[in-house]
Amino acid sequence: MNLTFTFDGIASTIYIEEAFDDIHAILGGDADGGCARLLVCDENTAGIAAKIAPGIVGNAAGSTAGRTQGVRVIARSCEICVLPAGESAKNWANVEKILKAARDAGLGRDGVFIGVGGGVITDMTAFAASVYMRGAKLALAPTTLLGMVDAAVGGKTGFDLFGIKNFVGTFYPSPLVIMPLESLSTLSGREWKSGFAELLKTAVLDSDDDFLDRIGRLKGAFSSPDFPANILQDSFLRGELLACIARSVEIKGRIVEEDPEETGTRRRLLNLGHTFGHALEASAGLGRLTHGEAVAWGIARACDLGQSLGVTGRDRAEKITGLLFSFGYETWAPHPCMKDAGRFMDALFNDKKKTAGKLAFIVPERRGCGVVFIEKNKRTETERILHIINGEAA
Ligand SMILES: NC(=O)c1ccc[n+]([C@@H]2O[C@H](COP(=O)([O-])OP(=O)(O)OC[C@H]3O[C@@H](n4cnc5c(N)ncnc54)[C@H](O)[C@@H]3O)[C@@H](O)[C@H]2O)c1
Repeated sequence: MNLTFTFDGIASTIYIEEAFDDIHAILGGDADGGCARLLVCDENTAGIAAKIAPGIVGNAAGSTAGRTQGVRVIARSCEICVLPAGESAKNWANVEKILKAARDAGLGRDGVFIGVGGGVITDMTAFAASVYMRGAKLALAPTTLLGMVDAAVGGKTGFDLFGIKNFVGTFYPSPLVIMPLESLSTLSGREWKSGFAELLKTAVLDSDDDFLDRIGRLKGAFSSPDFPANILQDSFLRGELLACIARSVEIKGRIVEEDPEETGTRRRLLNLGHTFGHALEASAGLGRLTHGEAVAWGIARACDLGQSLGVTGRDRAEKITGLLFSFGYETWAPHPCMKDAGRFMDALFNDKKKTAGKLAFIVPERRGCGVVFIEKNKRTETERILHIINGEAA
């Protein structure tokens, strides 16, 4: 199955559920031996990178792409750059490693950066490609559910700096995004859950509840002792999962087509749960919570804010937070990892979504979501936020 979008004039084809051999062919196989390629992955996705491009990285999977970090030559026209895993590795030092690996590999502007990993790897690889010689070629193979339903789609790139999430970044849509569903077989239960938070977020944005209800029907699979293997092995669950991934990609893709660089309000909607969520991630210490855990808590707070402003109806808020709770997310405030409210508020008002002292929050409406603004210098408004994060919302 594939979906095609046009992001800011750039055609982006997204292949969902690709077998490893097909990915190798889509990436061009060994045919264009003259075009240098750099595979970027982390310690946990190096084995997947080896499977994705067997002709490039050697036929015996794992024999060339091991688990150690570093850069190694795989074949004349391809190198692999293996980075440390996790959010704490999403930094300038590792972007520099990617750029250096590309230079050492002799990539020109026609060279291809191929990011194989979760959102951390695809965000950093896409950023490096966007600035390398003012823009090189790019392909992404997301290997986490979160990467498939969100991070690899739509062209936001970046890395964390000064303790602020995605403080540096560019818009650089990948013309090719290939999702190897089988790669999810090695993903931990916690990371699966993290991806479901972004799925739930996108479903809340939809104009009716069908998508939300479809995700709700998967929650039983989460409590099964076979989880997460059951989701990929049971044909019904696998079909439902694929439908959810495709729907999420479709919704995000169409929103980004309308507002590729978030200059209007459309793309902002995709930040549902992220303003509270990013502040929680930063104040808890980057990497302590998964992105999805923070976003899920942020969606619950967005429901509180919407109710406090009279925008979100009680039934809708209860439906959303009830679903989050049933998937096992922390939905109560204050969050146990929130060290202190002052630090949280500082992180909140450092958010990139701030303009002219006003911070944009996305809150659920009767259908879909809308944007509300909170002024940093208005005491009543910052107190409203403080009450919400401390669990004192009326
Ligand atoms: N660009 C965007 O639009 C966008 C949207 C949402 C999130 N993001 C970013 O994405 C990041 C979060 O992405 P993530 O949740 O994928 O985190 P991640 O990239 O850190 O991956 C999570 C963990 O899973 C491991 N992993 C990845 N694939 C695996 C596999 N198949 N099997 C076993 N282990 C595997 C990774 O090594 C890591 O330890 C955040 O930095 C967030 O800011 C970006």
